Amino acid sequence: MELVKDYPLSKRFPELPLLSAANTKKHSDLIPFAFGHPAQESFDVPLLSQSAVSALQLDGPRALQYSGGSGPDFVLNWIQQRSKHVSISVETQNILVTAGSMQAIDLATRTLTDPGDHVWVEAPTFFGAIRQFSLAELKISSIPVDHNGLLTDELENKLKEAVKNNVPIPKFIYVMPNYHNPTGVCLSIDRRKKLAELAYEYNFYVLEDDAYVELSFSGKKLPSIYTFGPKRVIYLSTFSKTIAPGIRMGWALADDEQIILRMKMLKSDGSTSVFVQEIISHFLSDVKFDYHMKRINELYCTRKDAMISAVKECFGKEVTYTEPEGGFFLWLSFPEKVNTSEFAGDALARGVSFIESKYFYIDGAETNHIRLSFTFTNEEEIKKGVQRIAESYYRYKKSIEVLNEV
Ligand SMILES: Cc1ncc(COP(=O)(O)O)c(C=O)c1O
Repeated sequence: MELVKDYPLSKRFPELPLLSAANTKKHSDLIPFAFGHPAQESFDVPLLSQSAVSALQLDGPRALQYSGGSGPDFVLNWIQQRSKHVSISVETQNILVTAGSMQAIDLATRTLTDPGDHVWVEAPTFFGAIRQFSLAELKISSIPVDHNGLLTDELENKLKEAVKNNVPIPKFIYVMPNYHNPTGVCLSIDRRKKLAELAYEYNFYVLEDDAYVELSFSGKKLPSIYTFGPKRVIYLSTFSKTIAPGIRMGWALADDEQIILRMKMLKSDGSTSVFVQEIISHFLSDVKFDYHMKRINELYCTRKDAMISAVKECFGKEVTYTEPEGGFFLWLSFPEKVNTSEFAGDALARGVSFIESKYFYIDGAETNHIRLSFTFTNEEEIKKGVQRIAESYYRYKKSIEVLNEV
């Protein structure tokens, strides 16, 4: 049989950039700073194995049913209690457990918007979110962040301008308040309040993506944006950075139960694996969660310190950064004329990957930064990886200097 014609696939898909580091074949000795993977050492495999055995042995036949056993309720109650750490008080029916927080972003986006609606994001922002908003056929624009997070004054000016010029205001603003991806900064308390006030005044939602909240090196936690304006915030978080991303479990919570009901209606996957929730319920009831996080944060803090000292040694004053107080990432800024995409390939050939800044901007606007993840690699690899980036950068720098002289 021969095919007569090409098959025209849906036109819905926007052109989404594939990340160059994701695209390349594995270098035998690659030091992967590109992706936000947790450290292998952060997974408590012995306790997870024990939890999986308990899930099967103690209530297997129920836990394996469509509706599951007692695990899902346990997980909801755990999330309800843990949310108090960021000053959120919520009923369990206002929480939806999802397949990772990526699914929560998708469901919240489609609950709040129709194709063609406007949403605003931070600049830079998480490329996974840009992808979701593009797939939902939204019009995206952005507001810059500085070392204290989203510039809420600039946001207010942009909202005023929009009203004055009869331009649509956003249906929601997507914000990462803690250890922002990619810059690692936290939104200050004043700006959290201001953002919630603006959401009420201008009637937009805030999609508060708090994926990294538990990754605090000092153990300190700030009140969520939700606390300051629960009626216009959907709060999202995940077990990906605390237990393991492979379990695919995150959540959304909202003060308005209608929001959660609508998200449930859009959730066409049956349910988030009830059996995995059974396993996680055993894990959460047996683990000393604060101690578990302390151990992980100590490891990450040591790796962050190793990266900062390697950067100081290899780059001196050539780069600037805000030292992260938690999370996964260090955001390095080079002089403005630098285009980090121009040496990413060479760096990869030398055995180190990072993500170039253009992927974190909706219009690829800023090209002089890179995101390095410090969680997945050990101190020795971190030192070697940063040296490789420096070799690559200084070679590139020399080549543009030569070009400028011609
Ligand atoms: C800010 C942010 N939100 C969401 C996610 C996705 O997390 P999950 O594994 O829960 O889907 C990530 C993962 O990198 C992230 O950085």
